[in-house]
Amino acid sequence: MPHRYRRLRLTPTIRNFVRETNFTAYDLLQPFFVIDGKNKKEAISSMPGIFRYSVDLLIKEIETYVRAGGRGGVLFGVSHHKDNTGKYAYATSSPVVAAIKAIKKHFPQFLIVTDVCLCAYMSHGHCGIVEGQKISNDKTLPILAKMALVHAQAGADMIAPSDMMDFRVSAIRQALNKEHFEDVGILSYAVKYSSAYYGPFRDAAHSAPGFGDRKTYQMDPANSREALKEARRDVEDGADMVMVKPVLAYLDIVSNLRRELNVPIVGYNVSGEYSMIKAAAQNGWVDEKAIVLETLISIKRAGADIIISYHAKDALKWLQ
Ligand code: PBG
Ligand code: ZN
Repeated sequence: MPHRYRRLRLTPTIRNFVRETNFTAYDLLQPFFVIDGKNKKEAISSMPGIFRYSVDLLIKEIETYVRAGGRGGVLFGVSHHKDNTGKYAYATSSPVVAAIKAIKKHFPQFLIVTDVCLCAYMSHGHCGIVEGQKISNDKTLPILAKMALVHAQAGADMIAPSDMMDFRVSAIRQALNKEHFEDVGILSYAVKYSSAYYGPFRDAAHSAPGFGDRKTYQMDPANSREALKEARRDVEDGADMVMVKPVLAYLDIVSNLRRELNVPIVGYNVSGEYSMIKAAAQNGWVDEKAIVLETLISIKRAGADIIISYHAKDALKWLQ
């Protein structure tokens, strides 16, 4: 008589011994929006709990985050200085540069990743130089490289280009190496879908495109093979890590990349994914703590090594 199948009973004493996936503070990166000025903390109406900070208050916020166990974050500059050349993106006077220096001074061990893209510094809101109604890939590359270099000089640990221009990873790598920033890594937004989930971010970063959309340079949500192709190419070009963005509707892509590539995979739990949970939680329709922890563990289970999430600071509190 064969044994009947018996499922392991996950009693409280055994449960944690057989857990296949876990996460710690080293799995999480919190995004931070940085603005000019002093003593500024601006609420973002579509992202409850997330604020834009001037550098002085950002340091206070990061101090709280570090106390909760936080180990690193991604910096996004939000600028009122915008033009058609993108020159504010690489200004050494930008709030991002000041933020990098201040964070490194107060928290030398804190991992600083900086978003490198032009859309927050362009009057038209597109991620590259616009000529007529088109984005000029090749005119955008040197500007991205300058921006990356300015961040590296300020002390950034990793550069995260989010623009989706072709050959930007090699352009940035070359620019960094030329100035002896070999230790500064590149986290490429390799797989970036054209997504409605970015809605609240564009509000947060004042970066909605003024005309057209980003469909010509972001990926079609219907495509999966293309994701692998893009990610492979970025790794060949010198990316140290590759990102999938958004992550929740694209966990299959995370799993594919995990299987096919040997670099760390980063999942970006984007603004719209955050806001949907926040809205439902504020209405009392879901249990926020439970749903956030379930969501984050699903991203790790799919194969992500690192998760960028607006929930990171809450998750760390709940983990303790
Ligand atoms: C800009 C950028 C975007 C996000 C990160 N960097 C917006 C976009 O591409 O439209 C989205 C992040 C989020 O939604 O949380 N290149
Ligand atoms: Zn952009």
